[in-house]
Amino acid sequence: MFDLVKELTGAFGVAGNEENIREVIKNKIQNVLDEVYVDTLGNLIGVKRGNGKKIMVAAHMDEIGVMANFIDEKGYIRFSSIGWVSPFYALGQKVKFKNGTIGAVFYEEKLDEMKNLKLSKMYIDIGAASRAEAEKKVSIGDTAAFVGEAVQEGDMIISKALDDRSGCAVVIETIKNLPKTENEIYFVFTVQEELGLRGAKTAAYGIKPDIAIAVDVTLTGDKPESKPMEVKCGAGPAIKIKDRSVICHPEIKKLLEDCAKRLNIPYQFEILEEGGSDPGAIHLTAGGIPSGAISIPCRYVHSPVETANINDLKHAVMLLRESLV
Ligand code: CO
Ligand code: ZN
Repeated sequence: MFDLVKELTGAFGVAGNEENIREVIKNKIQNVLDEVYVDTLGNLIGVKRGNGKKIMVAAHMDEIGVMANFIDEKGYIRFSSIGWVSPFYALGQKVKFKNGTIGAVFYEEKLDEMKNLKLSKMYIDIGAASRAEAEKKVSIGDTAAFVGEAVQEGDMIISKALDDRSGCAVVIETIKNLPKTENEIYFVFTVQEELGLRGAKTAAYGIKPDIAIAVDVTLTGDKPESKPMEVKCGAGPAIKIKDRSVICHPEIKKLLEDCAKRLNIPYQFEILEEGGSDPGAIHLTAGGIPSGAISIPCRYVHSPVETANINDLKHAVMLLRESLV
């Protein structure tokens, strides 16, 4: 499981530029499923045919990042964010453009108070001596992802882009160990979730499933002085009750809870006060689709050191598999 997570998190896939990660995932699923295709927006969809219920499983393959929007005379690059990027998480980090160019992210020294740190006061230094030199490597509109190679420390994985490559890993492992079922299952690796659940919206409309289950990360309340939240790393996958984009359908919540009980695996409930996820778009599509989610507890979400427990991922695979039968 760790090797798969490491490979997936290492692939490039800033929202809107998912070609690289899509190719990596496609190679892993295309000989296992009945059909694999890419839709207009770039969602990767793998189908297991059947005559039963139509189930959509969604995990987003995009990650947050930055986009070059201005290059000054000295070759320093100003940037805007793709998805929610905290200036504090970005400070002192490395970013990597699609062509491999790496830059240091830093801030204007004149800034008097750290609390005034904004992305607009920051820049990327790719070691270029002039605008012309910088433009040989980076063009306006190019995107870059944070650098943060996956490592395992005990049961914890620390990496960039666990949001949501850990969910992609759970779905890929499920595809490789499909249960016997008559259900028709659409495994969708969605694009542009970080920009507002965009890929999931068109994919769900195109598929019109009977139900949908997403796999994504969620925040936790288990860090020093955390905001109160029930979810903890290592206490099992979380069954989503709500976030800011959706109140999960009671039948899907019950389905997942019944499955977890049957499997006798640890599980917890998620009420997320900040942020949305793919079910937010899916449940409002095509006349309404009963939707829910399996969430992987993850600390420091949207930083290059996202941290999750590998056992939660393994239990999430068991839970997803059982829910498809
Ligand atoms: Co996210
Ligand atoms: Zn996510």
